[in-house]
Amino acid sequence: MSSTTSAESSPLELSGDELRRLTKLAADRIADHLDTLGSQPSFGTEGSEALARSLREPLPERGAPVEELLALLFEKVIPVSFNTAGPGYLAYIPGGGLPHAAVADLIADATNRFVGVWAAAPGLAQIEANVVAWFCEMVGYPPSARGILTSGGSLANFSALVTARRERLPENFLAGTLYASDQAHHSIQKAAILAGFPPENVREIPSDATFRIRLDVLEQRIAEDRVSGRSPFLVVGSAGTTNTGAVDDLVGLAEIAKRERLWVHVDGAYGGFFVLTEEGKRTLAGIERADSIVLDPHKGLFLPYGTGSLLVRDAGALKRAHALTAAYLPTMRDEHEFVDFCQISPELSRDWRGLRVWLPIRMHGIEVFRENLREKLSLARWAADELEKIAGIEIVSAPQLSIVAFRLVKPGMPEEELNGLNRRFLERINARKRVYLTATTLQGRFVLRICVLSFRTHAARMEMCLDDIRVAAAELS
Ligand SMILES: Cc1ncc(COP(=O)(O)O)c(C=O)c1O
Repeated sequence: MSSTTSAESSPLELSGDELRRLTKLAADRIADHLDTLGSQPSFGTEGSEALARSLREPLPERGAPVEELLALLFEKVIPVSFNTAGPGYLAYIPGGGLPHAAVADLIADATNRFVGVWAAAPGLAQIEANVVAWFCEMVGYPPSARGILTSGGSLANFSALVTARRERLPENFLAGTLYASDQAHHSIQKAAILAGFPPENVREIPSDATFRIRLDVLEQRIAEDRVSGRSPFLVVGSAGTTNTGAVDDLVGLAEIAKRERLWVHVDGAYGGFFVLTEEGKRTLAGIERADSIVLDPHKGLFLPYGTGSLLVRDAGALKRAHALTAAYLPTMRDEHEFVDFCQISPELSRDWRGLRVWLPIRMHGIEVFRENLREKLSLARWAADELEKIAGIEIVSAPQLSIVAFRLVKPGMPEEELNGLNRRFLERINARKRVYLTATTLQGRFVLRICVLSFRTHAARMEMCLDDIRVAAAELS
């Protein structure tokens, strides 16, 4: 019996020719989109509600031509959004979206192998394990370390927290307390709640004038908790906060954690990959002493959204927190050499994330990424220097990595009014749509921030950014 006959083929199957046609149509649209990213507005959310309403539709009984669907996506849907892949996106933490990774996803999805269990796709699992091993090498972890690729930093922080809980607390863990600064990303708080802790078990430690965790308060708080019968078990350090890119004293944290027998977790979702640069390595000194580290390739390696990672120094800890088997699963490998990702992560079936990291790095080599990260550090410093020259601008947080926070000030103006002034300042800068900036609140002050992280952001766009800031500042003076 022939294994493939046209009589057996499903209408859902694509012939080789049909697949080529479909991918060509999509690739043409994507290429046009990417080629014009720089001239597209930095955001375009006018008519967003009308658009969302216009897209509501019943379950379609019949299909539609793909040309029509691509036109809908590229002409109507995609333009109404923040231009997160564009060079002017200096908001939040920029992603990137290396197109090579999109090609990798196409290969991964079309071949659709199962990477959660080593036996099902050993070569694919090895490629993903290579990627994790590269990350471990970057942060200075020993070969015994291990890690997983996640959908993002939030899920990676969650698995880190569950691992720390499993290692340092008994089954009944509700006396456990954990510590993070008031600048830590909210995914830490969320992870703690999801892991079953009451929100108040997360001790928020104040930060200093440079937005780094106050180690003296941390020690005091741990001591108080011990006296009152609590079980301190985890301290979280930030390797680049979302607000300002502040890097906690990771050596100091490691020392305290050693004395207090706490698990140290470093959230390097935004800043961790700067360790690839000499300057970043100095700023992030001590990261290698952490028990676990989160790095987000969809930030610092410019990949598309959907790629985070968690690295754990003691591979056994990751396994103890996640391993379970079932009668219907294949035999798992016990050796360190071969990894069953389902045994060290919360997921079983999932996409082959490793390829979207592996392909761009193998195609370019890591030096290109390193150089790009160096450029981001120097662009942020340049922006801070230029901002200082503008009358009325106060630098609230100088770049420790690639974020600068600033605001307009007027002598004698009350804080409340300054906040309103800076909201208008932000609106005016963004109104030109060449860049898109966002704001945050730091110690009660509404501040604007520039976060340079996209591989598409270079000096020319930063000049535009500074021009727009100068114009807006002059209009409001
Ligand atoms: C410092 C930090 N940690 C964690 C996260 C959460 O990462 P994700 O959005 O990938 O879940 C972010 C996101 O910006 C972040 O900046």
